[in-house]
Amino acid sequence: TITTLYAALFGFFCGSIPFGLLLTRAAGLGDVRKIGSGSIGATNVLRTGNKGLAAATVLLDAAKGALPVLAVAQLWPGVEGIAAVAAVAGHCFTPWLGFRGGKGFATAAGVLLALAWPAMLACAAIWAATLALSRISSVSSMITVIAAPVVAWGLGYPAVGWPLVAIAVIVLVQHRANVGRLVRGEEPKVGSKG
Ligand code: G3P
Repeated sequence: TITTLYAALFGFFCGSIPFGLLLTRAAGLGDVRKIGSGSIGATNVLRTGNKGLAAATVLLDAAKGALPVLAVAQLWPGVEGIAAVAAVAGHCFTPWLGFRGGKGFATAAGVLLALAWPAMLACAAIWAATLALSRISSVSSMITVIAAPVVAWGLGYPAVGWPLVAIAVIVLVQHRANVGRLVRGEEPKVGSKG
């Protein structure tokens, strides 16, 4: 239906705003795509050494996922899951950067907060525990996105299960270079320059 298209376009547009790149550029730190993993996400922004900018990137990348989901849920109830998937896709494949971008994890956290906040709290615990154990951002991101649909189903949010599966597929595909580095034992821990 036409509302599905509107939800997709709106979510994709919000997700496409490359906050990590905009913030690092504005701070005079150059192009974040040229350092570390080349991602525009907060983990790579942290590799500039600026923790405040990394925190701002997480918050803004999460907000650009949460806000379209909340807006679509009000305007066209029932298609907010489409907006959620589209926002994550917009971040990962932003037209403003040649359809490249980030890995979608912070934006996925934002959409989950908007879709099913108790599931978001449970996933935050999974993320914190796996990050504390591994000290590797990509490991905790991948485990958490795989867990998210299971957690949502388990906590009684079956309607968000399929959007979360689609988001997990996108986020995992975006981590393919990380998987290669993990296999080779070359994936940096959080806090190292990578
Ligand atoms: O959330 C992104 C994280 O999982 C990986 O980021 O820059 O280490 O590839 P990065």
